[in-house]
Amino acid sequence: MDASSTGSVALIGPGRAGTTIALALTCRGWDVTAVAGRAPDARSTVAAAACLDAPVALVSEAGRGASLVVIATPDAAIEAAARAAAPSVVSGALVIHLSGSKGLEVFDAMLRSRPDVRVGALHPLQSFPSTSVGLDRLPGAWAAVAGDSEVRDLALLLEMRPFELPDSERVRYHATAAVASNHLVALMGQVQRMAEACGVPFEAFAPLARSSLENAFLLGPSAALTGPVARGDLRTVEAHLVAMSPGERDAYRALAREAARLVETRDSALDRLLEDVLESGAPPAGGAEPAGE
Ligand SMILES: NC(=O)c1ccc[n+]([C@@H]2O[C@H](COP(=O)([O-])OP(=O)(O)OC[C@H]3O[C@@H](n4cnc5c(N)ncnc54)[C@H](OP(=O)(O)O)[C@@H]3O)[C@@H](O)[C@H]2O)c1
Repeated sequence: MDASSTGSVALIGPGRAGTTIALALTCRGWDVTAVAGRAPDARSTVAAAACLDAPVALVSEAGRGASLVVIATPDAAIEAAARAAAPSVVSGALVIHLSGSKGLEVFDAMLRSRPDVRVGALHPLQSFPSTSVGLDRLPGAWAAVAGDSEVRDLALLLEMRPFELPDSERVRYHATAAVASNHLVALMGQVQRMAEACGVPFEAFAPLARSSLENAFLLGPSAALTGPVARGDLRTVEAHLVAMSPGERDAYRALAREAARLVETRDSALDRLLEDVLESGAPPAGGAEPAGE
């Protein structure tokens, strides 16, 4: 498969990720031979079939005539979908899933009945909240690939940056992606609550948050770290903990400890403060300086 390769793709699981991939392939001249969802009249099935200009099919018939079958159901349904589709898959066709947490083991049952089929996994390391946003985000996104070598070619065709991921590392990789994406969003939830508490608009923190993230990737997290933990400014950290709502302290302390891990010289007084100072009801040391960056 090269940049000008075309083929025919069947989509099982016509949600955000699957429809994005199928649409990106149609933009490159591919035909969509079938769209199969939970039911032929399910809303996402009908919408994706219209968007991809493709016929609706049952999962058990979806593989007919397709050189590529993309299974983009929720993770828990991949194995059963592969088993159900197995009899319809063309000999030599490639069947892939898009999951980050599942490996190639989900195809074991299908391969027992269809050893003539090739399998792989392609996990785009990007979030697709909708198909239109997803289409813009595919080019340049990294993608964890496994299985048949054609999966890598497919990623390149979609202008993604593939890297091989063995099944043995998949759970650790997926946990890392959860931290990079979900936990970052959760952290912004804390920023929103704390911004509201001090009467400053949440959006006011966007340039600071964005440039801090940029700096972390540009300079590396250790070099990018600024602020009271990087300066070893114990009294300011203590003042923060005292001033903030008690419900915010656990996350603040946990992340301040992570910040302290990035600082070369450990400060045992700061370590102790982050562990326990407010549990003992200790007052601030006084004289804390403003926390601005
Ligand atoms: N979205 C992302 O940002 C993203 C990024 C990378 C990878 N992925 C991976 O892509 C896969 C799909 O995720 P998604 O976010 O696209 O999910 P999604 O938007 O919820 O789409 C899942 C689709 O599968 C259908 N479905 C559910 N059970 C099915 C079954 N048993 N047989 C056939 N179709 C079934 C759903 O139908 P209904 O609508 O009727 O429920 C829906 O159309 C997952 O493996 C996920 O890890 C997603």
